[in-house]
Amino acid sequence: MPSPAFAPPADPTTPLVLIGPGTGIAPLRGFLEERAWLHADGARVGTSQVFVGCRHPEHDWFYRQEIQSWEESGIAQVHTAFSAVPDHPARFVQNAIAAASDTVWEAIENGANIYVCGDGRRMAPAVREALAAIHRARTGSDDNTAQAWLARLESDGRYQQDVFA
Ligand SMILES: NC(=O)c1ccc[n+]([C@@H]2O[C@H](COP(=O)([O-])OP(=O)(O)OC[C@H]3O[C@@H](n4cnc5c(N)ncnc54)[C@H](OP(=O)(O)O)[C@@H]3O)[C@@H](O)[C@H]2O)c1
Repeated sequence: MPSPAFAPPADPTTPLVLIGPGTGIAPLRGFLEERAWLHADGARVGTSQVFVGCRHPEHDWFYRQEIQSWEESGIAQVHTAFSAVPDHPARFVQNAIAAASDTVWEAIENGANIYVCGDGRRMAPAVREALAAIHRARTGSDDNTAQAWLARLESDGRYQQDVFA
């Protein structure tokens, strides 16, 4: 079930971490589209770190052109996971998050809101673990502390999921 609050922050300068493999990108695309409009209108918008995942970029990368155009316009940085491209650096989005841990940590430290959309059985827990691993690595925390940090982000509305089982 989507969280009732699954919506972008009111302040468009808030940085975002958007994680939406497969069909999960669809709601997140709306967040980016809104910011693209604001940006084209001259407003300042926060950067979105966008994690997309599919099997092959030529076959099943939804909204590829739009997403790439938003990267070109400077409102987004795109991190890809291609599960059927063996030499691609990331297979799944959680691997791409781990590979971009410096950027992800910096975004969260700068107040980013995190949104996860898509598969709730395997992807979302793996993403959560990837975020917890970043916290442990950056702060030297143990897993309980990392989980408490994630729970706090959730209760603050800064970590939201819209996932299907
Ligand atoms: N119930 C609902 O509300 C709902 C809503 C939307 C979609 N769906 C259904 O969901 C299916 C599509 O799923 P999807 O949007 O997730 O797209 P998908 O195309 O099945 O998967 C997207 C990417 O996620 C990868 N993946 C596989 N296992 C993963 C894991 N453990 N962690 C992270 N990534 C993983 C896939 O890799 P590989 O497959 O190559 O391993 C693929 O590269 C369709 O059958 C659709 O009908 C259901």
